[in-house]
Amino acid sequence: MRITDQISVSVTAIKQVAPMIKEFTLEPVDGLLTPFSPGAHIVVEMGSSGSSADKQSYRNAYSLMSNPMYSRQYRIAVRLQDDSRGGSVYMHQQVEVGTQLKISPPANLFAPEWMAKKHVLFAGGVGITPFLSYLPELQQRKAEFELHYMFRSRQTGAYSAELRDTLGTGCSCYDADLGNRCDIAAVMSGQPLGTHFYICGPESLIDAVRTTADAMGIPASAIHWEAFAGAKPGQPFVVELSQSGLELAVAANSSLLETLESADIKIPNLCRAGVCGQCVCDVAEGEIEHRDSYLSDSEKQSGQVMMPCVSRAAGERLVLDI
Ligand code: FES
Repeated sequence: MRITDQISVSVTAIKQVAPMIKEFTLEPVDGLLTPFSPGAHIVVEMGSSGSSADKQSYRNAYSLMSNPMYSRQYRIAVRLQDDSRGGSVYMHQQVEVGTQLKISPPANLFAPEWMAKKHVLFAGGVGITPFLSYLPELQQRKAEFELHYMFRSRQTGAYSAELRDTLGTGCSCYDADLGNRCDIAAVMSGQPLGTHFYICGPESLIDAVRTTADAMGIPASAIHWEAFAGAKPGQPFVVELSQSGLELAVAANSSLLETLESADIKIPNLCRAGVCGQCVCDVAEGEIEHRDSYLSDSEKQSGQVMMPCVSRAAGERLVLDI
């Protein structure tokens, strides 16, 4: 993403939609927003709170949950993360109506497969958001679908009442705080041939659906998933760029990608969650702590490539061949 691609938006409404989730409405400062397709996300650039000495900026990806047909405004929902590096805390505590933010144009790594005979959607917590942008088009196309929404009402569970009202039996809600669990294998078995399954939520949910699909012989091409968690904090380290000799300190709360971007080094990126493969960098020296889901085991073992959006140095120093 080039800096010039960024769009300035103003926050025009904020709603607390669950104990840990706030919804933000974003409208362009000038002109119009880009239309988007169901499942698209944007990257929001945020500054952290703190004194000027420790001010830091973060870029997190959030699914667009508004109706794609209505692109005069975008809506996103942000969960206050327990292990926030600062971005979700900033959104929850610093952003007010009238705050201006920079966002990327929408990109889509989680579009519905429209050729599917049926769509089965599994959402965990704030992972409901991309599916909110699926629903208008699924309904407009009269596509067959069912939504299984898992949450803890003491933390998440946003929009569950509205979804039940709108979708009726098409939406099953499971509130873990009330002891309700989704029997994933039961949901997946007996679906018509040609059904596609979509998962957005925590890693444990993604793993559970993928493992169940594997055991049931459902082809991987029928499983689509999006992890909403971005980079996690880690140990600080130093990165050296071999082509320029530049050295940068990567703070515990910053990703390697954010550190490179703050030095104005442009690395292509889409998901910022170790999934899309766009940000791959060659590594010349140093041990890598791989945290992505994109590289193969052999690529990880080679120690020659890494995904800087989520992965870090395993030691104190890393040399990138850029
Ligand atoms: S930006 Fe997608 S893997 Fe890094």
